[in-house]
Amino acid sequence: MKINVMFIFIFGALGGLLFGFDTGIISGASPLIENSFHLSVAETGFITSSVLIGSTAGALSIGGLADKFGRKKLLIIAALFFVAGSLLTASATGFAMMVFARIILGLAVGAASALTPAYLAELAPAKFRGSLGTLFQLMITLGILLAYVSNLGFLGHNLLGITDWRWMLGSALIPAIALFVGGLLLPESPRYLMAHGKEAEAKAVLTHLRAKHGEDVNVELAEMREILKQPKGGLKELFTFARPAVIVAVGIMFLQQLVGINSVIYFLPQVFIKGFGFDASNAIWISIGIGIVNFVVTILATMIMDSYNRKSLLTFGSIVMTVSLAVLAILNYTVDVKTAAIPTMLLIATYIFGFAISWGPIAWLLIGEIFPLAVRGVGSSIGSAANWIGNFIVSQFFLVLLAVFHNNVGGPFGVFGIFAFISIFFVKYLVPETRGKSLEEIELEMRHNN
Ligand code: GLC
Repeated sequence: MKINVMFIFIFGALGGLLFGFDTGIISGASPLIENSFHLSVAETGFITSSVLIGSTAGALSIGGLADKFGRKKLLIIAALFFVAGSLLTASATGFAMMVFARIILGLAVGAASALTPAYLAELAPAKFRGSLGTLFQLMITLGILLAYVSNLGFLGHNLLGITDWRWMLGSALIPAIALFVGGLLLPESPRYLMAHGKEAEAKAVLTHLRAKHGEDVNVELAEMREILKQPKGGLKELFTFARPAVIVAVGIMFLQQLVGINSVIYFLPQVFIKGFGFDASNAIWISIGIGIVNFVVTILATMIMDSYNRKSLLTFGSIVMTVSLAVLAILNYTVDVKTAAIPTMLLIATYIFGFAISWGPIAWLLIGEIFPLAVRGVGSSIGSAANWIGNFIVSQFFLVLLAVFHNNVGGPFGVFGIFAFISIFFVKYLVPETRGKSLEEIELEMRHNN
């Protein structure tokens, strides 16, 4: 059965929605689970971070398999893990089961985060690859927003006698099933098919994908054929031809996390409660507001991604984040908490704007674009794992850092500002420009630069 091309990209990116939902949902659910299971603070923290441990493992293990067995099959398997994880977290009876279930979910999140960027990049025509690849981040931000809404919507309602947090976690089942069904209908990546000698199938998929714009698929196929003639070194390529790509992927992912995005995504209510004495319900609304800004700006990013160079957008984002964070830090060290609260909120919104228009989508885009076909799966695995490790570090230490600075939010955000500043130079000296080029052109350039 042939499905509509737009659906292919939407279902192809759907793993992002589960990624955003499953990482975002815990901010509202964890205090409730803590109460239900009588957990210590450390145990609750571990429930939050167990998903990140699973994601790192999932990201690392999936790439080699995707290069071997195909992107589609593994996406379907990841969907099954999402289904199992959602059911298990929603029905967990205690701490150990919850940690186990969150690790299963994490494996799926990590797998989706490594598979999706490469899959979307391999399906998209060069001139729309930026926008189509940004759909992944758009799904992530939508997932985060839905998680906040689900947190707020189910809170305190024990529908059908089932505790609220079980509904929150269980609602992930709907997109998980959608991903599974969608996954069955998705085509295999034409570039994977070519690399495995299935040229006729690759041509059929490509013809369907490009039908609307009437491009000549033979040109694209010829380019793929050419690139497959390049010397292959198997995994060794990661240390030879693909080494510059590994450095870019790991660097961009670490920086994407070290600018502190998830201190806002996961902990914003705590920032306003601890830093400014807000009550919990107001604090949740601030999160929803920020979730909306994040999502809406990412829609904008999807629209402009193929009109501006990736490097220019990254630099713009880095500057906006550096300035917002610096002003935020100075403000919180110079005026009293009451006066600083509202401007801080606005500065966080500006910072989110800077992130969502650039580093949010582009880091994920690039790991799908910069690796040679022979190791693209493994390469995006490495980039994705770096992202999860960075995420783990920030989310483990953020609250500690906040305490070290005596609950002055200027402290941790000032530290993130330093990384935002460093990111300007990372982009200038290390990131290659990929806009408008075919994956094969990028590969040749990267091999040449090596
Ligand atoms: C990016 C980050 C992710 C973060 C999200 C926020 O996808 O990788 O960690 O939660 O942006 O929009």
